[in-house]
Amino acid sequence: MKKAIRGRYLSYRDNPFTKPIKDCLQYEEDGLIVMDEGHITAIGPANDLLPTLDEKVSVTRYEDALIFPGFIDCHVHYPQTEIIGAFGMQLIDWLNNYTFVAEQKFADKEYARAASDVFLREILRAGTTTATVFCTVHPQSVDAFFEQSAKINMRNIAGKVLMDRHAPSALTDTAQSGYDQTKSLIEKWHGAGRALYAVTPRFAPTSTEEQMEMTGAVWKEHPGTYLQSHISENKAEIEWVRKLYPTQKSYVDVYDHYGQLGPRAIYGHGVHFTEEDFRIFSETGTAIAHCPTSNLFLGSGLFKLERAMTGSTSILTGLATDLGGGTNFSQLVSMNEAYKIAQLNGFALDAYKAFYLTTRGAATALYLEDRIGSIEPGYEADITILDLKATPLLAYRLNYAENLEETLFALITLGDDRAVQATYIAGECVYNRDRETGEEQF
Ligand code: GUN
Ligand code: ZN
Repeated sequence: MKKAIRGRYLSYRDNPFTKPIKDCLQYEEDGLIVMDEGHITAIGPANDLLPTLDEKVSVTRYEDALIFPGFIDCHVHYPQTEIIGAFGMQLIDWLNNYTFVAEQKFADKEYARAASDVFLREILRAGTTTATVFCTVHPQSVDAFFEQSAKINMRNIAGKVLMDRHAPSALTDTAQSGYDQTKSLIEKWHGAGRALYAVTPRFAPTSTEEQMEMTGAVWKEHPGTYLQSHISENKAEIEWVRKLYPTQKSYVDVYDHYGQLGPRAIYGHGVHFTEEDFRIFSETGTAIAHCPTSNLFLGSGLFKLERAMTGSTSILTGLATDLGGGTNFSQLVSMNEAYKIAQLNGFALDAYKAFYLTTRGAATALYLEDRIGSIEPGYEADITILDLKATPLLAYRLNYAENLEETLFALITLGDDRAVQATYIAGECVYNRDRETGEEQF
């Protein structure tokens, strides 16, 4: 049913890392966003649009708020929700001691279903409307996730982890079974409603060369699907890959060799990328998911965001939580930590660029910038509304914000899930913090 929301809205038409912000930003002080059948049908100043609307169309007004395209989380592990904040280790030990223990429970589909619900509820509370998600090695963990995601009609990307070595036997498949299961999950889920499938080799150390071959093959055989994995996150990991694949020139070259780079391939981290790595990602159209809270929590290192986003060999980059290595579902918190990482690299990440990385920039990294990540007619109506008075300190601080950019930056510094007033999926309000809209609640 046609409906509209009214308030201050902000979106991007272009990339503020490479163009002046005035050429990128779309901002309306008192705007109206009209939605019908899951899509945005009209936007503009409320005073211009309201007279054109049938009086039966409901208009929900959000005051003291900012309306954004729904946030996109480019890399996250739903089965790791239960191990968020696990103490004291870096990547390889953290995987063996916490992750591989938790993921075994997802052989039980009902367990996976309950965990999917917790995860989906949490990301909606954080204002995230699309996530690129690792499930576990169990096909039923993918079925459970997509079944629950479909109930809310979310555009999520997910896939079964492929892993045939260096993991507990309860978490390994084989090159053949991984291939067969991936193929049948693609047939079942890719393009079913809003679901999209990602072929999901965990990372090069947990796949044999045979599995790496078959992974590249199954991805190639299904154009339009995604491929997600991890790369160059941690120094010990990189050294391990060097030993496991001695004939390849680099970690990036391993994935290149097995046909796993290209459009719709997105890799978490790239923390320790060399110039050559950036160049190959740039030339192949492969994307990086920058995962600030995870990189700090696991002591992995400082991603070179400015290098990634600028220059003749810039790469597609979207922001991500990487939870449970990451420590918060809120992309406001990811932006906050991205700012601090950039500071340590001598780069001042301004608020406009930060929000781009989780809206239009993230959509671009996922090759979905014609459907999600912007508030434009024809786009899918996934929308996040932030409350400018969410906490006493935020409200107080914003009294002293002199312009939109300062307001946005204070939201990044002080905001988290408490700042999310409401989240819309395909035009439906599926989360409202104060449960006041009377519309369907998740
Ligand atoms: N590398 C391989 N698997 C993982 C994982 O689950 N989390 C992170 N952060 N890195 C990984
Ligand atoms: Zn990850």
